[in-house]
Amino acid sequence: MASKILEWKTDDSLAVGKGATVQQFVATLGDDQLQIDVAPWGEGHLKINGREIAHVDDAKDRRQAFRAIKQIADRYVETHMTTSENKKGSVMLPVAKAKLLEGKKGLIVGIANENSIAWGCAKAFRALGAEVAVTYVNDKAKKYVEPLARALEAPIVMPLDVNKPGQMEAVFERISKEWGKLDFVVHSIAFSPKEALQGRVVDVSREGFATTMDVSCWTFIRMAHLAEPLMRKGGTLFTMSYYGSQMVVKNYNIMGVAKAALECAVRYLAAELGPKGIRVHAISPGPLATRAASGIPEFDALLDKAKAKAPARSLVSIDDVGVATAFLAHDAARLITGETLYIDGGYHIID
Ligand SMILES: NC(=O)c1ccc[n+]([C@@H]2O[C@H](COP(=O)([O-])OP(=O)(O)OC[C@H]3O[C@@H](n4cnc5c(N)ncnc54)[C@H](O)[C@@H]3O)[C@@H](O)[C@H]2O)c1
Repeated sequence: MASKILEWKTDDSLAVGKGATVQQFVATLGDDQLQIDVAPWGEGHLKINGREIAHVDDAKDRRQAFRAIKQIADRYVETHMTTSENKKGSVMLPVAKAKLLEGKKGLIVGIANENSIAWGCAKAFRALGAEVAVTYVNDKAKKYVEPLARALEAPIVMPLDVNKPGQMEAVFERISKEWGKLDFVVHSIAFSPKEALQGRVVDVSREGFATTMDVSCWTFIRMAHLAEPLMRKGGTLFTMSYYGSQMVVKNYNIMGVAKAALECAVRYLAAELGPKGIRVHAISPGPLATRAASGIPEFDALLDKAKAKAPARSLVSIDDVGVATAFLAHDAARLITGETLYIDGGYHIID
C-alpha cells in the first residue's frame, strides 16, 4: 500500500536535528513530489507538487505531527494519486471530518479548468459537505469542466455565458426547480477585451469600458438579483476582486476600475440584502497563475513581488482561497458582511 510506496527522506538543504526549527521530509511518487514540514510546536504541513493539501496544528510535538501528516499522506496517495483522472488535476481536498456546510447548496460560476479560483472554491465547499451546481462558459470549456463537475458530484452542470441572453436565468430556474433554495453563490468571472485591458485607462473606448464593467461587475449584481428569492432563509454571495481596485497596480488598468465598482456593489448589496440574512463579500486573492491572469502582461513579475513582499512570504493557492471563502458561508460567519477579504498572505498591509 501507499506507506510502502512512499519513502520519506530528510531534505538535506535544510538544517535537521534538535536545534532546527522546521524539519522537512520529501518523497517522490512517479512524477509527483511530496513534502512534509513539521515544527517542534506540533504543526505540520503536507504539500504535493508545491500545493498544500493538509495541515495539523494540534499535535503534541514534531514527532506526533509527522506521524499524523504521514498518515494523511498515505491515505491521500491511496485514494487520490493512483488514478489517471487525478493526474489531470481533478484532485479533491480530503473530506473534512466536520461537514460544516452539510445541507447547504450553492452555485459556482467561473470554473474554466483545474487552475481556476472557482475550482478551488468548489473543492472546499464540497469537502465541507455542501452540494454545488457548476457552469461552463461554452462547448470548448465543457470538456475541461465536466470531469471536474463529476469529481464534485455536481447534480447541476449547465452552460452559462453571461453574454448569452437567458442563460443566467435558465441556471437559476433549474436551481429553483431542483433545489427550491440556494445557500451560496460564488461569482468568479471577469473579462475585458485585450485592447481595453492592455491599454491605458485614459485611452479606453466606450465599448471596452462597457464590456469590462458588464461582465466583471454587473453580472454579479444580476446574480444577486436572481439569487435573492431563492435565499429565503438567508445565504451568502461571493465575488472575486483584486488589490488593483484600491491601488494602481502596473498592467491591471481598466480591470482595477471594474473591481473598484465591484467592491462598491458588494457594500450596497450587503446593505440592501442584509435584513433578509443574505451576506455579500468580495474575496481579494493575491495573484494566481490562472488563465484569466495570462491576459495580464508581466504577470510573473507580479507573482515574484507578491512572494517577496507578503508577510507570509508565500503565494496563495486556489485551495487557500477556497477554504477561506467556504468559512464565510458558514453560520459562524453570520455577522460578517460587506467585506473585501484579502487572501494574500498579508500583502495589502505592507507599504
Ligand atoms: N488570477 C488572479 O491572480 C486573480 C486575483 C484576484 C482576483 N481574480 C479574479 O478571480 C476571478 C476568476 O478568475 P481566475 O483567475 O480563476 O481565472 P479563470 O480564467 O480560471 O476564470 C475566469 C472565468 O471567467 C469566465 N468567463 C469569462 N467571460 C465569461 C462570460 N462571458 N460568461 C461566463 N463566464 C465567463 C471564464 O470562463 C472563466 O471560467 C476573476 O474575477 C478574476 O478577476 C483573479
